[in-house]
Amino acid sequence: MAGGETVGRAGRAAHIRSFVRRQGRLSNAQQRYHEQMMTRIGVPYRATAVDLDLLFGRQAARILEIGFGMGETSAAIAAAHPQTDYLGVEVHTPGVGSLCKLVAEMGLTNLRIVQHDAVEVLRDMLLPASLDGAHIFFPDPWPKTRHHKRRLLQPAFVALLVSRLRPGAYIHCATDWEEYAQQMLAVLSAESLLENTAAGFAPRPAYRQPTRFEERGRRLGHGVWDLLFRRRPPSLQAEDHRQDQLA
Ligand SMILES: C[S@@+](CC[C@H](N)C(=O)[O-])C[C@H]1O[C@@H](n2cnc3c(N)ncnc32)[C@H](O)[C@@H]1O
Repeated sequence: MAGGETVGRAGRAAHIRSFVRRQGRLSNAQQRYHEQMMTRIGVPYRATAVDLDLLFGRQAARILEIGFGMGETSAAIAAAHPQTDYLGVEVHTPGVGSLCKLVAEMGLTNLRIVQHDAVEVLRDMLLPASLDGAHIFFPDPWPKTRHHKRRLLQPAFVALLVSRLRPGAYIHCATDWEEYAQQMLAVLSAESLLENTAAGFAPRPAYRQPTRFEERGRRLGHGVWDLLFRRRPPSLQAEDHRQDQLA
């Protein structure tokens, strides 16, 4: 399907895709690992909720990563945090094959992959308040004005993502595109269920190793902006609601 198309099914709100399906070159290794590993760690898209405890075979903190690219950073984070489970979502087949290879080589048991549009994965497969965090590192910046509608970080998407976070869970975004960074800051700040953990942009947390896309940006002289927001705890939400009622 071409990028930017509006998609939807009966009874579902249509949305504009944030990606274009690229062919890309699939190396022999990526293809082999994709075939071998997706039967073990791949989670086929489905229109009903997934039981994450069953999927990972344990109870643990759960972090969603959207658009992991070639997956080096995802694998490094999962390896450094064996007590936490990671669900990576990516549409690009070479990237999925590449992360499959890393998972196999590093013997990771705490990472699963869904190869599908993350908007539909969030909407259909993940229950409300089921996540402890979300990583969105260097989402496609779509720099041309006529393509801004394809950017992932929009109010409706943020509202959907926040609904899948437990109170206290975090959203960590990063971008090398300054104007998108400002948009992210505005959109995340405008979501009443979120609070910024920093005064504006956040220092890069130590767990986020530089990603492939980030390194490419740095070579081009781009800056990098991290954003770290948290879903407000229920007491604060109730208090805000009370203040709204009083106002
Ligand atoms: C600019 S790349 C960054 C990749 C990686 N995070 C990095 O920093 O190297 C953005 C990635 O997000 C993926 N992507 C974009 N929209 C997506 C969506 N709705 N669902 C899943 N993946 C998506 C693209 O396929 C692409 O690989």
